[in-house]
Formats: sequence, structure tokens, C-alpha cells
Amino acid sequence: MKLLITGGAGFIGSHVIKLFVLKYPNYKIYNLDALTYAGNLENLKAIETQANYSFIKGDINNEVFISKLFLKHDFDAVIHLAAESHVDRSIKDPLAFVKTNIIGTLNLLNAFKSCGENRLKNKIFYHISTDEVYGTLGETGLFTENTAYDPNSPYAASKASSDHFVRAFGETYGVPYIISNCSNNYGPNQFPEKLIPLFINNILEKKPLPVYGDGNYTRDWLFVKDHAKAIDVVLHKGKTGETYNIGGWNEWKNIDLVKLLCSKMDDKLHLKKGTSENLITYVKDRPGHDLRYAIDASKIKEALDWKPSVTFEEGLDETIHWYLNNEQWLKNVINKDYLSYYEKQYN
Ligand code: NAD
Ligand code: TYD
Repeated sequence: MKLLITGGAGFIGSHVIKLFVLKYPNYKIYNLDALTYAGNLENLKAIETQANYSFIKGDINNEVFISKLFLKHDFDAVIHLAAESHVDRSIKDPLAFVKTNIIGTLNLLNAFKSCGENRLKNKIFYHISTDEVYGTLGETGLFTENTAYDPNSPYAASKASSDHFVRAFGETYGVPYIISNCSNNYGPNQFPEKLIPLFINNILEKKPLPVYGDGNYTRDWLFVKDHAKAIDVVLHKGKTGETYNIGGWNEWKNIDLVKLLCSKMDDKLHLKKGTSENLITYVKDRPGHDLRYAIDASKIKEALDWKPSVTFEEGLDETIHWYLNNEQWLKNVINKDYLSYYEKQYN
């Protein structure tokens, strides 16, 4: 198996690469990543010298480069994770999301199908997507694989569009594909622009914790290593042409999650109870903020026998432990670009 993983230097991609490189010594695993602000080869130190692993620096927006790469390697399978992934950045610069998430995906699909119909039959294009394509839920209900797409942020719209292109390439050109739509991931190696690592870092730096609006927004949280395991199961056992929703059965209102995180940080840092919580600051809401996401993950559970393996408490403890033991990783990503993003977003 010659397997291309895009976006493998990012948060989820690096966990997928680590899992696959160690579990499948006979696969040839290629990691294609442009190393944007979110890509970090430090995430892959543990496996970078393995014989079955190669890194290719390159941009999925570069059509000529992508088509040459596929001609050269004739990949059997693609797991496509490379994307612009942060909602707040998509509000400031939607075009960047159109370029990478839509046009970049289209470049990969075109290059993938160029091997011809016969050879395509035994291959698979696996697109990693998000539950945000479904828009927002009210106080009740769950997203199923049949929920209509109704994206509200430019990020969600770009991911919805890329999902549609993947499906259209299946219908029109016979490209074998699978799509999975997952809820919010958390865990080690997540860039500190997303809620959990941002707040861990701000607590360490004694900076305010900016809760958007009244904090009564709900997300379903899944530990990133469980998502990587789900991706393994879907790639190997999933049915071509199907969509799988992946979730943690783990809904939290932002403010409750933040308070739990604060109390754990107080314990771990031996701070007086309430020290971290005192940093909570309610700030202007995110425009188009989706009220609630929640996933019905029964299809993947029943059809492919996957379910989350760790509880939220266990996953959150492992996450905090990782950030406290990898302060240098945090220091390296908190550079000039990050501080300028932070300033524009929060001040
Ligand atoms: P991330 O931002 O941490 O990583 C994205 C990676 O893609 C980075 O390594 C970056 O360098 C690379 N990349 C970006 N633009 C590129 C380009 N033009 N060419 C090549 N590489 C490029 O993202 P993540 O959180 O790991 O998410 C990975 C995928 O999973 C995305 O497709 C995202 O939509 C999806 N997803 C994420 C979550 C989540 O909670 N983080 C949930 C569901 C689905
Ligand atoms: P985020 O981690 O950006 O993921 P997503 O937007 O993909 O769900 O945000 C998770 C939730 O936390 C979301 O409801 C927005 C909220 N949030 C804040 O309240 N403050 C922040 O500084 C950030 C980054 C997010």
C-alpha cells in the first residue's frame, strides 16, 4: 500500500501518521504538508526516521506540482486532512479557505483520477471532514449522516463544498471515496488558537481567558487519538461511497468545559482554588456562532465496531499533562505571527 496523507504535520494528521507508521510497517506512508503556521514537524519527531515514512513539503494549491506528484508515485490511497481549519481565521480571510479547502481538494481529486478508470477501482480517496458542515442544532437532536448540509461559517462552507466535490467525483468519474465528519478534537499537539490549548497557554501565561458571548455554546469533544483510530477503521473497513459521522458522545457547554479545565489547571499547577477561573473574561461573540454541535455516531459503532476508548476526564488529563511537559513546543509556536494573530483577534 502506497498511502498519501495530506496535512500530516498538523494536529490530527500527526496523530494519524504516528498511528499508521507504527502499525503498518509494510505500507509506504507519504506525508504531504505545506508547513503553514499550523504545520509542525516537531509533532512527528517520534517516527521521522522510520523506513516506511517520507515527508514531502508541498502545497495542495499548486496544481502542476500535485499532478506530477501523483504521476510519480501512483498512490493506492489518500487520506486528505490538509486544510485551513480555524473558524475565526475563516471569518477574517475566507479566500484562503476557498483556495486550500476547495481548490486544493479539487487538485488532489483531479490528480488522483488521472490514473484511469481501471486502476482507480482498487484505490480509495478518503476525505476528512467536520460536523460543522451540518450547521447548528437547537437544544435537542443529533447530526446523522442524513442531516442536510447547512454551513454557517466560511470554514464550514469551504469544507461542505469540498465534501460535495468528493462526492461529485465519485458520481461523475467513478472515483472511489469515503468521507467522515467528526466533532471537535482535543489532545496533544493542537495549535493554541483552538479553545482548549489556547486556554491552557493563557493560564500558564496568566492572561485572560476570552469566552465568546455568554459561553452557552455546546460542542461534542473527541480525543484526537480516538479520531486517528476511527480513521484507521474507516480506511480499512469502511464502505466505498459512504459517509461516517465520528463523535465522542461527549457534549459540553463551553463555560462548563472551561471551568473544569480551570480547576484541573489549579490542581496541576498547585494554585489556590479559583485562581484560573478568575481569568475568565466574557468577550464579544463570534459572528455566526453555531449554538450546538452533537453527533450521532451509531453508524460507525454498529457497522465498523468503533467507539471512543477514553473518557473526557482521561483525555483532558493526558492533554494537560502533555502541554505542561512540552512548554518548549508551546514556546516555539508562540512566535511573532501568532502574537500578531492574537492581537488582531482579541484586542
Ligand atoms: P491543523 O490546522 O492543525 O493542520 C492542518 C495541516 O494542513 C497543517 O499541517 C498545515 O501545514 C497543512 N496545510 C494547510 N494548508 C495546506 C496546503 N495548502 N497544502 C498542504 N498542506 C497544507 O488542522 P487539524 O485540526 O489537524 O484538522 C485536520 C483536518 O481535520 C482538516 O481537514 C479539518 O477540517 C478536519 N477536522 C478537524 C477537526 C478539529 O477539531 N480540529 C474536527 C473535524 C475535522
Ligand atoms: P474552537 O476551538 O475554535 O472550535 P470550533 O469553532 O471549530 O468549534 O471553538 C470551540 C468553542 O469555543 C466555540 O464555541 C467557540 C468557543 N471559543 C471561545 O469561547 N473563545 C475562544 O477564544 C475560542 C478560540 C473559542
